[in-house]
Amino acid sequence: MTSILVLNGPNLNLLGVREPAVYGAATLDDVRELCEAAGRRVGHAIDFRQSNHEGVLIDWIHEAGTAHRAGSLLGLVFNAGAYTHTSLALHDAVKGAGVPMIEVHISNVHAREPFRHHSYLSPAAAGIVVGFGIDGYALAIEGLARRAAAT
Ligand code: DQA
Repeated sequence: MTSILVLNGPNLNLLGVREPAVYGAATLDDVRELCEAAGRRVGHAIDFRQSNHEGVLIDWIHEAGTAHRAGSLLGLVFNAGAYTHTSLALHDAVKGAGVPMIEVHISNVHAREPFRHHSYLSPAAAGIVVGFGIDGYALAIEGLARRAAAT
């Protein structure tokens, strides 16, 4: 079975306690369960990970590129947290790995502070899901599966 990698960046391990008015009450474990359920619906295994470290995320994206080329990975669903707004290195990793990536944000970053309006990841993304709460992860998984079925 082809899998989908769901990557979470810094501070997303704090979901549930972190600014619940912005991010809701669900924990990262709840997000994992939601992703696994979405994966079952579209027939793909979910590999769900979180790191607070940019270099670890880069290494995982490189691995994802290798797995994508080998045909074992459909693509990447990526909530890079604040690295979205700062990391040219993550942009380069996604472009360099050549793996289809759907960018996800729980909150509507465009309705928040101006420093959240720019994303280094968006130009490297196959699609973007913003502002649907944690349901955005399921939408991204479904979108990645539909995109692959259409190509
Ligand atoms: C976030 C939005 C980012 O601006 C923020 O730094 C996060 C979470 C979101 O999911 O809404 O850590 O990516």
